[in-house]
This record gives sequence, structure tokens and C-alpha cells, in this order.
Amino acid sequence: MEPLLLKRIQIPGSETLAVYLREGGYQALRKALEMAPDQVLEEVKRSGLRGRGGAGFPTGMKWGFTSKDPKRPKYLLCNADEGEPGTFKDRPLLEKDPHALIEGMVISAHAIGAEYGYIYLRAEYPYASQVLERALAEAYEQGFLGGNILGKGLHFDLHLHMGAGAYICGEETALIESIEGKRGEPRIKPPFPANVGVFGMPTVVNNVETLVCVPLIIERGADWFAAVGPKESPGPKIFSLSGHVVRPGNYELPMGTPIRALMYDCGGGIPQGRRLKAVIPGGPSTPVLTEAHLDVGLDFGSIQAAGSMLGCGAVIVMDETTCMVRVAHRLLKFFHHESCGKCTPCREGTGWLEQVLDRIEEGRGRMEDLDLLLDVSDNIRGKTVCALADGAVSPVTGTLKYFREEYEAHIRGGRCPFRGKVSG
Ligand SMILES: Cc1cc2nc3c(=O)[nH]c(=O)nc-3n(C[C@H](O)[C@H](O)[C@H](O)COP(=O)(O)O)c2cc1C
Repeated sequence: MEPLLLKRIQIPGSETLAVYLREGGYQALRKALEMAPDQVLEEVKRSGLRGRGGAGFPTGMKWGFTSKDPKRPKYLLCNADEGEPGTFKDRPLLEKDPHALIEGMVISAHAIGAEYGYIYLRAEYPYASQVLERALAEAYEQGFLGGNILGKGLHFDLHLHMGAGAYICGEETALIESIEGKRGEPRIKPPFPANVGVFGMPTVVNNVETLVCVPLIIERGADWFAAVGPKESPGPKIFSLSGHVVRPGNYELPMGTPIRALMYDCGGGIPQGRRLKAVIPGGPSTPVLTEAHLDVGLDFGSIQAAGSMLGCGAVIVMDETTCMVRVAHRLLKFFHHESCGKCTPCREGTGWLEQVLDRIEEGRGRMEDLDLLLDVSDNIRGKTVCALADGAVSPVTGTLKYFREEYEAHIRGGRCPFRGKVSG
């Protein structure tokens, strides 16, 4: 399939309005403004688009909750926090195709009746912030943002809001708190942001890639989008491929493409003829899969049936030289550090998991530690306000499921069996 989401990023000057217009940009907005808001919403519903930020919630359904709420003003927030290790699919869109995001947001605002919008951008993307600021200024100058957009009476103001470097602020309610100027901590749901969001008003939060799919759906039609990939999770998708592959990078493929095709046909396979050990299919918050899963399709349903999650599509490959205890330890360090501290099971539990993994990796572990890891994980999962904690236990439960013998080897041998061997 020819790339559509990434089709402009190689064109010199793709981030400018002039090039975007030359390449057919803002035509979908013109088309959408000829349609009633409900028609646009219906088109996105029919397309089957599911959120690309991790949870895979049906976009049209989410919009429907907000559009029906009579409270005003309504807000549309773009989640450009992209904070999970190994995730970098939104970055080229933000840096190279900012007008596609702006166009997607204006169309979405029309559909849900939002007057105000924010792009919440991770602090670590300073170049994207410059590009977005310029693109927003251009869009205002040319009448694609502000009052009476394209003379059609639509009013939508859009601002850039920089994060401060916290993974938790990618969680939609923590993101909302952060925009309100508060500490980034999740809110208890319900009420859901759709009805009580930023500044207490109905709010839609969508991922960058989700919003960039919207002009495509309007341009090519819901039927076209729905026919790409599996019926229950259709459309093109950007996968960020990293780790032990010859050609890491972003690859746009139809949903449902097997892991093997991404890893070998796009990524060139594993360097130096080494064997595959494990693959994380959707970012570190999703459990590892193995060589036995190479033919599983990269879509929400198939990956779930295989015992993991598609998440945001960050595929991380690990070869036979990788120590899985070290992988779990390193990732737990990240999740423990990034836990916002609001919920005790997450704040304390991720620290305990990190400590136990630390001693196993160092060869000071006990056989009982393996059940202890599972017991602590059990007491974290599902017992917190947000899903950070559920994701945080995935590296432990996933690696223990498939690589328990590696843990045991650390404990029996009193050292890491991979120490001194190459990994990287
Ligand atoms: C800890 C945590 C971090 C998250 N980080 C992001 C992120 O960086 N970007 C993103 O789009 N969604 C992230 N999400 C998911 C959002 O909460 C939310 O589901 C998403 O922005 C909704 O947009 P979508 O429906 O278009 O996917 C995160 C969730 C959690 C629990």
C-alpha cells in the first residue's frame, strides 16, 4: 500500500502551508464544511476509525458523546505527548506535516462543535514546537483557524501547549489537569472528559495520528477506510519499529499486517543472523510476544487474542543476546520513575517490583521472588485510577510467562548469565 499518512514527509518544505496547499491540503476541510456536523461525525463512525493513542477506542463513538452534550464551549485536545519508550510515530507528522494535523483538528472541531483546541506537545520535541507555532500562524493568516473559517461561519481557536516531560501527562485526564495548570495526575472516571473535561467542559482527546486520519476519511470516504485491513480495526497505521532490526524506523502499513512482514520485509530482519527472542508489539506497557507469534496481525483484535495489546504500535525487537530480566528491570525503572504517586499500589508497587528485579538481575534473588513478583503485580493491576499501573506490570508478567527459566538461571547461578555477552 502506498503511504498516505506519511506521504508528504519526504517532500522538501512539507511543513509549510504553500507546499501543503500544492499537495492538495485543506481540500478535505472545504469538503467537510459543505457537510453538516452530524454527517462528518457519521462518516468517521462508519469508517471504523479507532484511536491510535493506545486504547483503540472508536473515534466516532467518542465524538458522539461530546457532540450531544449541550454545555459550551467544547474543547478538542490533541494528545502529542508521545512519552512511552520506543514510540516515535507521531513525531514525523508533527515535524513534517503539521498542517495535516491542523486540518484534521478543524474538521473534527466542526463535527463535535468544539470552539477551542489545544495541541499538548511533549517537552522533548522542541523542534516540533517551532514547526507547529509557524504552521498555526500560517493557518490563522490564511483563514483556516479563528473566526468564520473559510467564510463558513465555523469558529475554532487552536493553541500549542508544551508539556514538561512527564509520561503520565499522556494519560488523557492527567493531560487535562496539566492544561489547567495543575500537577499532572489522573482524574477518577466517570465523569468522562467527553462530558466533564478541560475547565469542566465537554472535551474530546485524540491522538495525533487519529486526527491525521480524519482528512483522509473525508477525502476518500468511510467505505475506503473501512476496507483497509480487518473489519473491526481498519485503516492505515504507522508502526515505529526499533530494537534489533537492520532498518529501524516508522513504517505505514495496513492494520492487520503480520509482525513478520514489518520486522523482515520492512525492517530487514535481525542483524548478524541472530535469532529472535522476543517482540514487544505495542510499546513497553504491552506484554512481550515471541517467535511463535510472528504471523499474528498487527491490529487490536489479533494482538489481544495473542495475549498482548497493540497499544500505539511501537514494535520493539529483541534478539537472543537480550537478558529478559534486565529488560523487565530497565522498564520497571522507567514506570516507577514516571508513576505520578497518586495511587499507592502504583507508587509503592512499581518500586517494589524494581527492587526485586534488581536483586534477581544482580544474582541475589530467591526462588520465592518469582511468585512475589506475580503477587505484587496482581496487587497493582486494576487497582489504580489510571492505566499506567496496568502497563507497568506488563514487562514483569510478560517476561515471566515466556522466560521464567531465565529468571531461574539468574537465581540458581547467582549471576546474570548474559553478563559479558553482547547485547545491542
Ligand atoms: C500512562 C499513559 C500514557 C499515555 N500516553 C499517551 C500518549 O503519549 N499519546 C496518546 O495519544 N495517548 C496516550 N495515552 C492514551 C490516552 O489516555 C488516550 O486514550 C488517548 O489520547 C485517546 O486518543 P485516541 O482515542 O485518539 O487514541 C496514554 C495513556 C496512559 C494510561
